[in-house]
Amino acid sequence: MTEWKLRKPGVEDGARIWELVRQSRVLDINSVYCYIMFCSYFSDTCVLAEREGEVKGFVTSYVLPDRPDTLFLWQIGVAESERGQGVGGMLLEELLRRDSCQAIRYLETTITPSNGPSRALFARLAERLETPIVESTGFPASLFPDKGHEEEKLYRIGPLSH
Ligand SMILES: CC(C)(COP(=O)(O)OP(=O)(O)OC[C@H]1O[C@@H](n2cnc3c(N)ncnc32)[C@H](O)[C@@H]1OP(=O)(O)O)[C@@H](O)C(=O)NCCC(=O)NCCS
Repeated sequence: MTEWKLRKPGVEDGARIWELVRQSRVLDINSVYCYIMFCSYFSDTCVLAEREGEVKGFVTSYVLPDRPDTLFLWQIGVAESERGQGVGGMLLEELLRRDSCQAIRYLETTITPSNGPSRALFARLAERLETPIVESTGFPASLFPDKGHEEEKLYRIGPLSH
């Protein structure tokens, strides 16, 4: 089996991430500009998983400006053909190993109630890190103008000990 390569994204990867998000049919799709901007300004806290030169997974995150011990995980996605094989977990562990994350004690992310795989991914991460995962109100459905949008529950994992 070809090896996985994990790396920081560059601006030329913005459109590749956008394409993966588009194909996921689960993630909210943002503009290509938004992904390019993330790859440019937050690449230290973003990871790409590549196999045979193709981007098959990614995670985007940033350190909260007013709480530098907290990393907000914005989006994570793995190509459908590669799911359930540990790629999501590998992306998160690589992120936490980075020098840029050594001061991080808490991870925050939001997940919709219907997204079982995402909840399983973060619950397993908390288990492996032997730290609690706490659910609270995140962004209620009323904040979203499109009627079908579910609420986004907030999950906080930590404290982490590196
Ligand atoms: C969520 C997602 C990134 C998980 O990636 P993945 O590579 O499939 O996850 P992993 O294989 O690393 O699984 C991590 C853990 O979650 C569990 N898990 C993953 N998918 C699962 C599923 N469909 N049902 C139950 N458990 C699941 C795994 O069993 C694993 O636990 P383990 O270590 O005990 O085996 C992937 O399903 C995805 O891209 N979904 C669409 C996009 C999305 O919803 N992103 C999250 C919202 S931002």
